[in-house]
Amino acid sequence: MTIIKGHICYSTDKDTLHTVENGYLVCERGKVKRVYESLPEEFEGIPIEDYGDRLIIPGLVDLHMHAPQYAFRGLGMDMELLDWLEAHTFPEEAKYKDLAYAREAYTYFVEDLKGGATTRACIFGTVHKEATTLLMELLEDAGIGAMVGKVNMDRNSPEYLCEESAEASALATVEWLEGIKDRFTLVKPILTPRFIPTCSDALMERLKDIQKQYKLPMQSHLSENQGEIAWVQELCPDTRFYGEAYAKFGMFGGDCPTVMAHCVSSNEAELALMKKNNVFIAHCPQSNENLSSGIAPVRKFLDMGIPTGLGCDVAGGHVTSIFRAMADAIQVSKLRWRLVDDTLKPLTVEEAFYMATMGGGAFFGKIGSFLEGYEFDAVVLDDTNLPHPQKLTVKERLERIVYFSDDRNIYDKYVSGVRTKR
Ligand code: GUN
Ligand code: FE
Repeated sequence: MTIIKGHICYSTDKDTLHTVENGYLVCERGKVKRVYESLPEEFEGIPIEDYGDRLIIPGLVDLHMHAPQYAFRGLGMDMELLDWLEAHTFPEEAKYKDLAYAREAYTYFVEDLKGGATTRACIFGTVHKEATTLLMELLEDAGIGAMVGKVNMDRNSPEYLCEESAEASALATVEWLEGIKDRFTLVKPILTPRFIPTCSDALMERLKDIQKQYKLPMQSHLSENQGEIAWVQELCPDTRFYGEAYAKFGMFGGDCPTVMAHCVSSNEAELALMKKNNVFIAHCPQSNENLSSGIAPVRKFLDMGIPTGLGCDVAGGHVTSIFRAMADAIQVSKLRWRLVDDTLKPLTVEEAFYMATMGGGAFFGKIGSFLEGYEFDAVVLDDTNLPHPQKLTVKERLERIVYFSDDRNIYDKYVSGVRTKR
């Protein structure tokens, strides 16, 4: 049993941020038992880790990022998606064939995550199974909970990166899955067809077989950019909308837990199917700004009840901070409201915090809150270097942390009850 004490903040639903000043978070075998305002007698004698005036929040969840793109974040941010993939992304991802390069670059990436507030992440690797396995090892050693995918791409990709055939791509995926079987506790595999333009029908069919056989979730991209959407329509003339190009292979929620990045320009029919199939959306505001993709109607996703979380989408996004993603999500929602559609009100801090914790966490299971039975994933925040002339409430302190903290404010971290920092 572990008991930690401090100012505790967590979402109980999308509109409610619950705060307990000088509260006790009691955990047992890596799971939350309860949050108490004062400690019941039954727990007397159990040592308490007292974090004093610091804040304790659930670990942040990143629903979408690309580990091999970390090295070039902040570079080449003057292009739109498809040109950016050709000019910057594919050449960089090809380097991960070289395991020495992968080890160095992935070490920097994992160090970054380790120092930040993210405790769970959905992560794209590259097409290379060895480098993807290495990435999983590094994440497990760092105590980061993650779903990691070997990327599949067998068409419309440069020769130096494209997999030889659907069969070769599927075979490499199975070899990767067999090679990592039962090796990790915190890190799990996730199927990762890059997006429809780079995945043939034959490949999608094979991936569905693999998904069923290994009971895997899947992650991909959806309706991010107008050029991409038009291309998918050309490639799949039998579909009414982009999402159908995944759905026709049984790779769009339902028995295949799915998270789709972006959905900037999803139409009503696409959103309705996502709602029906419980497809998660990874909202990646910083990437959508950098690649001029647009502003996703997140208020609509929330109103419709489509499960939604946040993603940094490095290197579409240039930083890995999910606090920054929260602020970005709120800011772009204001621009959308002012400039595009005044019926969709801007996001609140409560909603952004919910998406960054409980909303995205639901893709992993009982993750992202301190309600009973949730995984004990927590981040302890120290804001003493952000002084203020007045006494602030816990919620005000959290808001300031969202907008302008950095890794120096992360004091301690727990993932599934295991302390991973200090
Ligand atoms: N669509 C297909 N591949 C990618 C990628 O690497 N990044 C982003 N943002 N979108 C994509
Ligand atoms: Fe992406």
